Amino acid sequence: MALQDLASTYPAHVAHMQALADRALERGGFDHLVVPSGTLHYQLFDDRDYPYAVNPQFKAWAPLVRNPGSWLVHTPGERPKIIYLQPFDYWHVVPDAPSGYWVEHFDVVVIRTPEEALRHLPADPARCAILGEPLSTVGDYVPNNPAAVINHLEYHRAVKTPYEIAMIRRATAHGVRAHRAAERAFRAGASEFGIHLAYCQAARQDANDLPYGNIVALNEHGAVLHYTERDRMPPRELHSFLIDAGASHDGYACDITRSYAFDRDSEFQGLVDAVDAAEQRICDKVRAGTDYADIHLYAHLEMATILNQARVVDMSPESMVETGVSAKFFPHGIGHYIGLQVHDVGGFLASEDGGRVEPPAGHPYLRLTRTLEPGAVVTIEPGIYFAELLMKELAEGEHAGAVDWDRVDALRPYGGIRIEDEVVCTDGEPVNLTREGFAALD
Ligand code: GLY
Ligand code: MN
Ligand code: MN
Repeated sequence: MALQDLASTYPAHVAHMQALADRALERGGFDHLVVPSGTLHYQLFDDRDYPYAVNPQFKAWAPLVRNPGSWLVHTPGERPKIIYLQPFDYWHVVPDAPSGYWVEHFDVVVIRTPEEALRHLPADPARCAILGEPLSTVGDYVPNNPAAVINHLEYHRAVKTPYEIAMIRRATAHGVRAHRAAERAFRAGASEFGIHLAYCQAARQDANDLPYGNIVALNEHGAVLHYTERDRMPPRELHSFLIDAGASHDGYACDITRSYAFDRDSEFQGLVDAVDAAEQRICDKVRAGTDYADIHLYAHLEMATILNQARVVDMSPESMVETGVSAKFFPHGIGHYIGLQVHDVGGFLASEDGGRVEPPAGHPYLRLTRTLEPGAVVTIEPGIYFAELLMKELAEGEHAGAVDWDRVDALRPYGGIRIEDEVVCTDGEPVNLTREGFAALD
């Protein structure tokens, strides 16, 4: 599918946000939704600021990700307002004057100091649901973050508008381009740090622009789920490469993982291929009405089947899952919602009014326990790892005898495998944004 025109899909997105906010305010008993964009944070005893991270509740309305000190105001029945801070400052680059496809949908007022916002916020702060961090307080406008309002907004964030899917698609286009560059750097013998730089260059994004810290893991580092160390020098021998890296597009994220054997004829490449094929079968389960926790359990069966067929574990896949043996090799959740945040919110919400659906017993790291609806965008990210700590637990447990430890030892230097795509749930066939993104490069 071609990249959709953002300007043509955006009006319906703003209308959707207004309708959602109307209902959230009604639920919470407030008259206005007020959302600060966020504030710069400074390091303790220092004048250095941390990288600015926009309030997700703010960027949900408009593609403004570099505008600290700005505000969104929504009052039912009125045009939404953006109070846009454009300071007089000759030390830094200040935000450009408001422009782009979003502007005509708002009353935009430009302010020059953060305090000027007070003149444009609704008259009575007590009637406002103010969603933000305490540091964003201006005058009596103190973020109160009412749960009824936030639950409503976060529950419905699970279903993306066509505009949002187009934004994730664009983020994915940056990500797949950079993944290809990273693979080339790996094949050329670059260090983890060098591969990371090649990735950022190809994505045209600095580390702080990315939706999460790149995981660039050579050899046994692939067994560390969130490995973010990045050795500055290449290892003496190259066995494998796991890269979990995303990219952003005006506040929307992509989240992609690929795994490679250095020797394409190795047994490890066969395992990578098996996980890749299983991952595509799991992606096919992303269908309306499916409980995401069932997809997670199905993925365990798939990974257990691979472990059995590779003669790593001599147990039936079913008993590997039942006894928790598969979780020693696949110790994380099958995925999560993705959108404005890489781990998008609302994954455990029982309803638009709140409540929590717990993950299945024995699977505490699953981040999404809801039933899928058309418009949901999720990741599917199965894996098999040979992590020292978990292999030790397995070796000391009652199922140690079912494991071929020579084979585990032979695979340890390869670390692990993860394959991760982003998949859109539709009324029919799922749409794999990541595979489509890679195919578009060919
Ligand atoms: N990159 C973090 C994750 O895959 O969830
Ligand atoms: Mn992920
Ligand atoms: Mn990831």
